[in-house]
Amino acid sequence: MSDTIQLMTLGHHIEEGERAHPGATGDFSGLLSNLAIAVKLIWREVSKAGLLDILGTTQKENSSGDKVRKLDEFADETIYKAMQRGGHLCAMASEENEGLLAIPPNYPIGKYVLVYDPLDGSSNIDANVSIGSIFGIYRRVTPAGPGTLQDCLQPGYKQVAAAYTIYGSSTIFVYCTGNGVHGFTLDPSVGEFLLSHENMRTPRQGRIYSVNEGNSSKWNEGMRNYIEFLKGDDEPTGRPYSSRYIGSLVADFHRNLLYGGIFMYPSDATHPYGKLRILYEASPLAFIIEHAGGRASDGSRRILDLVPSSLHQKTPLFIGSEEDVRKAEEFLRKGGD
Ligand code: AHG
Ligand code: MN
Ligand code: MN
Repeated sequence: MSDTIQLMTLGHHIEEGERAHPGATGDFSGLLSNLAIAVKLIWREVSKAGLLDILGTTQKENSSGDKVRKLDEFADETIYKAMQRGGHLCAMASEENEGLLAIPPNYPIGKYVLVYDPLDGSSNIDANVSIGSIFGIYRRVTPAGPGTLQDCLQPGYKQVAAAYTIYGSSTIFVYCTGNGVHGFTLDPSVGEFLLSHENMRTPRQGRIYSVNEGNSSKWNEGMRNYIEFLKGDDEPTGRPYSSRYIGSLVADFHRNLLYGGIFMYPSDATHPYGKLRILYEASPLAFIIEHAGGRASDGSRRILDLVPSSLHQKTPLFIGSEEDVRKAEEFLRKGGD
C-alpha cells in the first residue's frame, strides 16, 4: 500500500486534535466542523459566481465605508446561518455588520465567540482574482447568557483558534488551534478538505514585499525609506526584493507565509489607522503567522496584544517573516533620519 498519500481529512484532523485534549467535550470540534461546511457553501457560490447574478455590488456600505458586494452579503449570511444553531457560540461579529450578531433565542447558547471577515478581497470578485474568508475564535469572558461586546473585544492572544480560506485556483482551508498551522485543500469530487500543508512554517526572512505603492506619497519618511531599502541592489542581503500585491490580504498573506516575505498596510495621510480591522483581519492572521514562526505588528506593537475598543477598529499591519517585520519596525522607529 502506497504510504505517500496521506488521506487525512479536515474532520479527522479536528477529531485527532480533540483526542489530544482529554477533557475535551467535542464542542470545539463541532464548531470547527460547522465552519468547514460554511466555507464549502461559499466555495460553491464563488466557483460559479460568473454564472449567477451574484456579482457586482448591493446598494449598501458596511461600517468601514466599503461598498458591500453581493458575494460579501451571501458569504456573511451563509456563515451566520451555518453557525447560529450549533450551540457552540454565544455571539458572532462580522466585518459586514455594524453590531454584535446575537444567537436567535430559539437556539442554544455556547461558550465561544466567532468573529469573521466573510469575504476578503471583495474588490477582486468580478475579476476572478483569489478572495477568501478569515475567522477568529475566542472563549467567552462573561459567565452566561447571550454574548456581549465584552466577549468580542478581546486581544488576539486570547484566541483559541484562527482560520482562513482562499477560493482560488484551488480552495484551501488553513487553521491553527495553537498546535501548529495546517492547510487542507478541497477535493471537489468528494467535497472533502484533505491535508495538503502539514505544520506550515514561514521562512525567517523572505524576498517578497506586498504593499499598495499607490499610497507611497502619503507614507511617512520611515515607511518610504524602508521600501527604498528593499529596492536596494545588494545580493548578500537578498535585495532587491520582488514586489507582489494582489489586493486580497488573505491571498498575499498565504503566498508570503509559504515563500517568506512581508505584507504591509501602513497608516498614511488618508488612513491614519491603516485600512484593516483588528478583529476580523489582523488578529486572526497574526495568531496564525506567530504559530508558523513569523511576526505581526502595527509597526511597533505586537498585533496580538492590541485590545480593540470597538468591533471595527482598524490598525496598521506589518505581517510575515520575523526578520522582515523587525527590519520594517527599525525603519519606522528611525523615521526620517
Ligand atoms: P475586504 O474585501 O474584506 O474589505 O478587504 C480588502 C482589504 C484586503 O483584502 C486588501 O489587502 C486591501 O483591502 C486592499 O486595499 P487597497 O485596495 O487599498 O490596497
Ligand atoms: Mn478583508
Ligand atoms: Mn471583507
